[in-house]
Amino acid sequence: MVESAIIPAAGLGTRLLPATRAVPKVMLPLVDTPVIQIVVEEAVAAGITDIVIVTGPGQEAIKEHFRPDPDLERRLEARGDIEIRDRLRRLTELADLADIRFVTQPEPRGLGEAVLRARSAVGSGPFAVLLGDTVVTGPGPAIGQLAAVQERIGHSVVAVEEAAEEVLERYGVVGGTPAEDGLIAVSEIVEKPPPGRAPSRWAIAGRYVLTPTVFDTLADLEPGRDGEIGLTDALAALIGVEGITACPLTGRRYDTGSKIDYVRATLDLALARAGYRDRLHRHLRGILERWTGPDVPPCS
Ligand code: G1P
Repeated sequence: MVESAIIPAAGLGTRLLPATRAVPKVMLPLVDTPVIQIVVEEAVAAGITDIVIVTGPGQEAIKEHFRPDPDLERRLEARGDIEIRDRLRRLTELADLADIRFVTQPEPRGLGEAVLRARSAVGSGPFAVLLGDTVVTGPGPAIGQLAAVQERIGHSVVAVEEAAEEVLERYGVVGGTPAEDGLIAVSEIVEKPPPGRAPSRWAIAGRYVLTPTVFDTLADLEPGRDGEIGLTDALAALIGVEGITACPLTGRRYDTGSKIDYVRATLDLALARAGYRDRLHRHLRGILERWTGPDVPPCS
């Protein structure tokens, strides 16, 4: 049973500047809900009850967001704003469903270091890692899909998705052989392979369920050339020790730290809301109908 999750969220959000000048990137909203809350919801939906969010210096807004505010709930209720009250109350419910704690990563020293900083806060069993800027939509919580596989096979599992050849250099990429149920027995993992050097098109997709062995491996790793401790490097070292399995994601992944994915995620999540679906469809249809050019329609 996977009960703990680490959510690295300290990223600077450089690609989204100037929006991220004063607001942590994981606090940017998709419609009305910050990305980090959507990620926490995914963990809670998978039955995870201990959550550690790794933040950077000056990112108190993330901690503040998860502090229940019963006074504001009461004022909204008194005004009759029940729908908004319920959305706010979700934070109180989340605090009841899970113990949400915070650890600071003082300097951006890599995903592996972020995970290592949360070591003492997770138990002694397998734990989940959900990248705080990555949202996955789908029929059920993506991390639950991984946890089920991990429980069955016993060693670490990483989520992957098939990516286009030209973007593989931005990801960790796994190589291996097909195993049962569409899984992949991993024999190689390369972080950000140079063009033409990726072992496959299976890109690591921001969700992991790992055994605690990875902590010792991370603690022993020398920082890479950029001074960072890479989670992928630790996983590569684990292959020969206890095996790694890759699990293709069934849901759709959005890297909300990228502008285009941020816009896509906003649109798709809004379209999934009953109150907006029809109006947004009409708007989008209108854009496409007015457009007569050869390429893409203009934004209006
Ligand atoms: C990180 C991981 C990489 C993974 C990616 C998914 O990279 O190191 O292996 O494929 O997330 O988004 P980053 O996006 O931090 O460069």
